[in-house]
Amino acid sequence: MPQESGGLTHDNHLFGTEPVYQRATESFFFMAKLLLLHGPNLNLLGTREPDKYGRDSLADINARCVALARELGHELVAAQFNGEGQLIERVHAAASDRSEFIILNPAGYTHTSVALRDALLAVAIPFIEVHLSNVHARESFRQHSYFSDVAAGTITGLGAFGYELAVRAACARLS
Ligand code: DQA
Repeated sequence: MPQESGGLTHDNHLFGTEPVYQRATESFFFMAKLLLLHGPNLNLLGTREPDKYGRDSLADINARCVALARELGHELVAAQFNGEGQLIERVHAAASDRSEFIILNPAGYTHTSVALRDALLAVAIPFIEVHLSNVHARESFRQHSYFSDVAAGTITGLGAFGYELAVRAACARLS
């Protein structure tokens, strides 16, 4: 019997069918770690200004993203912090834990944080910036982002669905 561990096929030559062989080798070579990082106040999603941010909780959004990434052959880890320093430290940790892509909603820090921007540039991990609301259709102070010009892409105004699109885009880039 062929054996597999973590997607590694030890006895490829014993596989009788090509599709099984391909699936096993693909998951070994291409499985990547993604970080989904949420900024301040997003822990309150579901009850926080639902007319702007929707009724899905952060746990709902994270669970859907983890499941989708897994379905696409990758591992996704989600984290939320209210503090700027905590977010910066998590970005640094992403470099040591070999995360290959970050999906980031910097929330209020979008419009203020040179330091978080610098952290992302320092680790040089590509990232997608996501906003639930359409920040361009809101107050003028929300219309500037310290992240958009250095992001791989931005998704804004599509609600929780934006995270799903970001996971799909990140996984497509990694495969
Ligand atoms: C937000 C938009 C920001 O302006 C705001 O401060 C947030 C959430 C969004 O997802 O729409 O906290 O990033």
